[in-house]
Amino acid sequence: MSENIAVILAAGKGVRMKSEVPKVLHKVAGLPMVMHVVRAVREAGIHRIIMVVGHGREQLVTSLPSEGIEFVVQEQQLGTGHALMQADGLAAPDDTVMVLCGDTPLLRGSTLQKLLEYHHQTGAMGTVLTTRLPEPTGYGRIVRDENGRFDRIVEEKDAAPEIKAIDEINSGMYCFQAGPVFDALKRIRPENVQGEYYLPDALPILCSQGFIVAALLHEDEEDIYGINDRIQLAHAEQVLRRRKNHQLMAEGVTMMDPGSTFIDFEVFIGSDTRILPFTIIEGSTVIGENCTIGPGSHIVDSIIGNNVVLESSKLLESKVDDACTIGPFAYLRPGTELQTGVKVGDFVEIKKSVIGEGSKVPHLSYVGDARVGRHVNIGAGTITCNYDGKNKYETVIDDHAFIGSNTNLIAPVKIGKRAVTGAGSTITRQVPDEALGVERARQKNIDGWASKGQEREAESKLRR
Ligand code: UD1
Ligand code: CA
Repeated sequence: MSENIAVILAAGKGVRMKSEVPKVLHKVAGLPMVMHVVRAVREAGIHRIIMVVGHGREQLVTSLPSEGIEFVVQEQQLGTGHALMQADGLAAPDDTVMVLCGDTPLLRGSTLQKLLEYHHQTGAMGTVLTTRLPEPTGYGRIVRDENGRFDRIVEEKDAAPEIKAIDEINSGMYCFQAGPVFDALKRIRPENVQGEYYLPDALPILCSQGFIVAALLHEDEEDIYGINDRIQLAHAEQVLRRRKNHQLMAEGVTMMDPGSTFIDFEVFIGSDTRILPFTIIEGSTVIGENCTIGPGSHIVDSIIGNNVVLESSKLLESKVDDACTIGPFAYLRPGTELQTGVKVGDFVEIKKSVIGEGSKVPHLSYVGDARVGRHVNIGAGTITCNYDGKNKYETVIDDHAFIGSNTNLIAPVKIGKRAVTGAGSTITRQVPDEALGVERARQKNIDGWASKGQEREAESKLRR
């Protein structure tokens, strides 16, 4: 049975990005732009994907998921026709090959499906997707004959003024039958201003062999928008973020101001969750239902349950169970896990720690490398001293413990069940279950000190 295969051309340098990073790896809405093309291909039901790589290929091959993508190398960038030629032999003659570029992140699966269907309906051996642009400069122009049938494509650089006046352009997206197109590619000559092997030249060759060649005019120009510089990158970013926000709102997420809400493409958010302005949600984050997130929160690769409130806080690779309240101004670093109903308040930093169900860290604390049990209260200003300059050590605080304000816990150290630490203590040894651990000098009061100057002087001498 014949197969549908996508070939994504991504060997070019992308000079105008002015970057050390290959163009197609620049991210749009959190994904390398070429992965948006891959996504659209898969949405269209095509699962065999060949990527032609050249410039920065090591970086490409290591940064992209290798699963489901076959890489082929184009050693020298001799043109788009030469690029497709690198996939010769990988497809059976009656397979359908869809050819795409790696720099069109706004592409949708539905558009590719239309292209594929049209290609098969017309019985064409080659079909090009076109659109009309008010500003067609830079694109290859579609030349049609007097009957409106496809004739050829002329590149901007090779175009006479009357051709430049044509506003129908080549999107750079095509379908071909493999056998005929790879034969035609062998006959292309680099006889043009750029001295390149132009893929579009395969189309008139197919025509001349008596094959049907079709051009599908696509109304929505957004799909084929290609990125050449960082201004276009920013535009694509805006479009994809708007699409993502619309999708989430359609699924039941409230956004007070979608324009100031930035959510990566692969983020999932449950219904009745409200996202308040100036919030950024990145990576593979999953957020449950009925949460309030923001204003001003930044969440990366985290998992958040239902009914969570997260105000003006930053979360990195953390897990937050149902009904937690976080912030304002909390910082949860990688490896943090908050179990159900935990409260983390203002100016609290937590790193690589588990905070048990119902426990509270309400203000001004640092908790690192700690295991905190259930229903523990951690007083304001508590610090787990987890680092001696060389190694990190663990602090364990058992269920129902009460850590007094301004306690220093010198790790490794364990605070037992229902144990208490006195405010201001520096705890260096285990506090057993139910015990009070207190470490501070007994207070001394000097009567009348404020009014007696002489004695004050004596006192200060004593201190010296
Ligand atoms: C190409 C088309 C043009 C079309 C436009 C749409 C040709 C000759 N022209 O022009 O008609 O309007 O796309 O965007 O095809 N690539 C390689 N190897 C190469 C050259 C290019 O892999 O040797 C890749 C690039 O990485 C890029 C794609 O092919 O992803 C298109 O190449 P580019 O140089 O951008 O072609 P355009 O001049 O834009
Ligand atoms: Ca281009």
